[in-house]
Amino acid sequence: MAPSTAELQRRRTFAIISHPDAGKTTLTEKLLLFGGAIQLAGAVKARGEQRRARSDWLQVERARGISVTASAMRFDYEDHTYNLLDTPGHEDFSEDTYRTLTAVDSAVMVLDVAKGIEAQTLKLFEVCRLRGIPMITFINKLDREGQEPFALLDEIERTLALEPTPASWPIGMGKNFLGCYDLLHDRLLLVARKQGREAHADVCRGLEDPTLDRLLPDRAVSQLRDDVRTVRALCPSFSHDAFRAGDLTPVFFGSALNNFGVRELLAGLAELAPPPQPQTAVERRILPEEEAVTGFVFKIQANMDPKHRDRVAFVRLCSGHLRRGMKLVHVRTGAVLPLHNPMLFLAQERGLAEEAWAGDIVGIPNHGKLRIGDALTEGEALRFTGIPSFAPELLRRVRTTDPMRAKHLSRALYQMAEEGAARIFRPRVGADFIVGVVGALQFEVLAERIKNEYGIPLCFESAGLLTARWVSGAPSRLRQFETSHLAAVAEDHSGDLVFLARNSWHLETTIREADGVTFSKVKDN
Ligand code: G4P
Repeated sequence: MAPSTAELQRRRTFAIISHPDAGKTTLTEKLLLFGGAIQLAGAVKARGEQRRARSDWLQVERARGISVTASAMRFDYEDHTYNLLDTPGHEDFSEDTYRTLTAVDSAVMVLDVAKGIEAQTLKLFEVCRLRGIPMITFINKLDREGQEPFALLDEIERTLALEPTPASWPIGMGKNFLGCYDLLHDRLLLVARKQGREAHADVCRGLEDPTLDRLLPDRAVSQLRDDVRTVRALCPSFSHDAFRAGDLTPVFFGSALNNFGVRELLAGLAELAPPPQPQTAVERRILPEEEAVTGFVFKIQANMDPKHRDRVAFVRLCSGHLRRGMKLVHVRTGAVLPLHNPMLFLAQERGLAEEAWAGDIVGIPNHGKLRIGDALTEGEALRFTGIPSFAPELLRRVRTTDPMRAKHLSRALYQMAEEGAARIFRPRVGADFIVGVVGALQFEVLAERIKNEYGIPLCFESAGLLTARWVSGAPSRLRQFETSHLAAVAEDHSGDLVFLARNSWHLETTIREADGVTFSKVKDN
């Protein structure tokens, strides 16, 4: 096998999606623990605490106990290299999550055994379905009483119109949770009885193996045999094609907190989830095995270390073999970008990426040149599709309460907008900026960050606006439209024209009457 084929085949780039509290953080931590990326359980939270203590930049996150930033982490386990992209669970940050999901090849959906599919799971699932992302399901917290496994499978099928096929089957639940039967490899996985010991797999030859009778109480064995027969009769057997098309999900059961089922989930990702997939650009499809390096920016994170005012663009590599020191072309500006310090994110630290392949996520430090959606190539003019901005659903006027800092406000706002933390609009009439977001919590985070990172205290006021639409059309027609709607027209951070509607009547009549002008809720970056 050519080195590039081997490198590609062993890569898995995925995200974990869940409703808050289902166990995403715990599962992430356990995956990193197995991958040797962290040494201590609790380190993921500790890392968050340390970061907050150092920069204090997400007090909102601390106060509300939610995770609102997304990041990428790489780890190796057995023969595979995993890139795990973290997604914020809170619905107010769904836009960030959407963009993160443009950079993955598969997703793990975590459900709480007691709660099943919750509101945010459903929303995130819909994004994955839209993008055709194959999904593995992990039903968590089996050490607690919850819903019957069959009821959960039924819920997945009914609510998500997704065919579930169990990859493992739980034996008992809550205090009586004994382990799982691994349906893919016909083996038994028992919960470790002694503290500090990991769950172990006892190989048995199928369900009728007397080892089962020796290791499990009678009632548990007969229930397991009945359940597995029913599963095999009723559920479809695993099909790679249906899974990769996003129509079928293998379901694992476990308890992240107790380390149970986590290794099997990792093995499932290695065995079932796809390696780096082709990516779509306006011009053509890009295959991961192509020699020339290509990639796109899906996230910008500024001021990760406020002492250095740094700004990191997260790039998903789509093809080629990236080496440190090489030069790439920044397609939007045509500038040549030397990659002196591409970064690799491990759980607790960042390292220099000496090399990387398609599927990997590298961080490129820059001073604001790179924006979400930008393409980097070895010279080919490519524009990647499907990295959208959404029309904000909440709009407010923003001012600083400190007149001495007023002139710095626009720079801070522009930087936040380029990072994708909020939309900003500069109205043609008036001096104040309008800030637009999808979820209300984004206002709080924005104010908190601008105060901490730039020392500018903000206040938001009602703008009397309902929503915004990007407008496009022939230049002469657009100029005409602008002149006749001057009080309702603004420019976004990249200079694109936006119509700001006061209410739905204003929006509808303007759309009806503006011939030759297209109004759009979504802008491809
Ligand atoms: P999230 O990132 O999806 O929001 O969830 P997170 O991992 O923070 O887990 C939410 C709560 O569920 C945590 O409890 C966590 O310990 C618990 N949890 C996660 N996995 C399991 C499991 O397999 N079994 C059980 N019984 N609980 C689990 P917490 O009390 O809110 O936080 P903490 O004080 O334990 O950190």
